Amino acid sequence: MSRLPEPPGAVSGRPNCRDSDAVDMEAVLLIGIQGSGKSTFYRERFFDTHVRINLDMLRTRSREKILLQACLAARQPFVVDNTNVRAAERKVYIEAAKAAGFKVVGYYFVPDAGGALRRNRARQGRKAVPVPGVLGTLKRLEPPLPEEGFDELYEVEIGADGFVVSP
Ligand SMILES: Nc1ncnc2c1ncn2[C@@H]1O[C@H](COP(=O)(O)OP(=O)(O)O)[C@@H](O)[C@H]1O
Ligand SMILES: [Mg+2]
Repeated sequence: MSRLPEPPGAVSGRPNCRDSDAVDMEAVLLIGIQGSGKSTFYRERFFDTHVRINLDMLRTRSREKILLQACLAARQPFVVDNTNVRAAERKVYIEAAKAAGFKVVGYYFVPDAGGALRRNRARQGRKAVPVPGVLGTLKRLEPPLPEEGFDELYEVEIGADGFVVSP
């Protein structure tokens, strides 16, 4: 079978792999208690470009792992939209992403327990998390540090006009 000509920008010998893939390979970790705005942030900024990995949706760690491995193998950018409050939880994604050559970017939703509880209460149906659950997550929260392996780490707060992101 004859080979198709390589498209412009292709990496030599790998016709389906372009140089630009290198910059596109990004693993994003959202870090914040329930109601801090993580999933909304995902929808606003990453919906068109990144696969969403979310334990509430996937239901088991086993299914989550399958999707994570698929993103890594496909060189597909993704966002881990879990609370990710413990450094040990984050380590799993950071190590796997780095080993696959991904850039790792963190967004830390600075805790605002009052606001999170208010927003959480306003949610409909099964999405609302009981107050002790939110406070428990807040207690377990270990703020992310660059030393964990983040290539970029930002803080996110909810301002009057939406999300405010700062380095
Ligand atoms: N920037 C924002 N400004 C106002 N309300 C917001 C904002 N982001 C999220 N919310 C609201 O707060 C609630 C929780 O947001 P969500 O994105 O589901 O948080 P999380 O995924 O961190 O639990 C939702 O009802 C959402 O509409
Ligand atoms: Mg969410």
